[in-house]
Amino acid sequence: MHRDVERRFFVIDDLSHLASAQAYALGATHVLMADRSLSALPTFFIQPSSLIAEGSIEEAVLGSIQELKNATMAFASGGEVDVASLESCADPTISALTQNGISGWLDVVRGHHEATYQHALLVTGVLVDFGISLGLRPADLRTLHLAAMLHDIGKAKIPIGILDKPGRLADTERAIIELHPVIAFEALKRNSRVPPEVLDAVRHHHEYLDGTGYPDRLSGAQISDIARMTTIADIFGALIEERQYKAAMPREQAYGVLRQMTTRLEGALVGAFEAVALER
Ligand SMILES: [Fe+2]
Ligand SMILES: [Fe+2]
Repeated sequence: MHRDVERRFFVIDDLSHLASAQAYALGATHVLMADRSLSALPTFFIQPSSLIAEGSIEEAVLGSIQELKNATMAFASGGEVDVASLESCADPTISALTQNGISGWLDVVRGHHEATYQHALLVTGVLVDFGISLGLRPADLRTLHLAAMLHDIGKAKIPIGILDKPGRLADTERAIIELHPVIAFEALKRNSRVPPEVLDAVRHHHEYLDGTGYPDRLSGAQISDIARMTTIADIFGALIEERQYKAAMPREQAYGVLRQMTTRLEGALVGAFEAVALER
């Protein structure tokens, strides 16, 4: 294996999560589908950062907070979420992460006083950076961005006293919180600007491979790639988040937790996530 080679392209016949994850595990930096992607090969030689205008992390985070606030207020009042405005944050976020990696993003988000949107911002940075580290195309990175920004918007309809309750939740309280993916899905599916992949991630980011997740108790191949990736970013984002009643877990320790979830998360994807968790 030529480790000193900057980009390693693997061509696979079957663009399943497993084939692509195996390719990345073998050292691929970019994975192409044999019959579909080869015509797109030249675009892989252009870094996302050169396709997307430069911008600072601070600007990207501040813009994201403003758009999350607008989206959450609209959602909470039963109005339509302005998807185009949320999408306008995608390229500045992708650009900031491509140039700086996830570390700078985490520092800026944690340093900001606006704690309400901390989780969504952490998950957005982590999920988009996961996509960048896998060499995904800008269009796919933008889909991941929207999925992460919207993934927990259903919580805007859950009473704050339950959401922010420290310590153990009663079964009834947990059941109410676990409604948030379906609440979001049911509202967002009426919005023609929300693509199906994003609806899928919103509804299924708490499903596990062994069927112990919610809301649909999906298992194995029933869970899509985007849902699997969003679940990993969501758990990691929650662990490294600082709350009033809980300190942030160090990234190494949080990654260790993911690695132990062997029956629930896809091992190859968790392996591919190591760069985001520990290095970038
Ligand atoms: Fe969630
Ligand atoms: Fe979440």
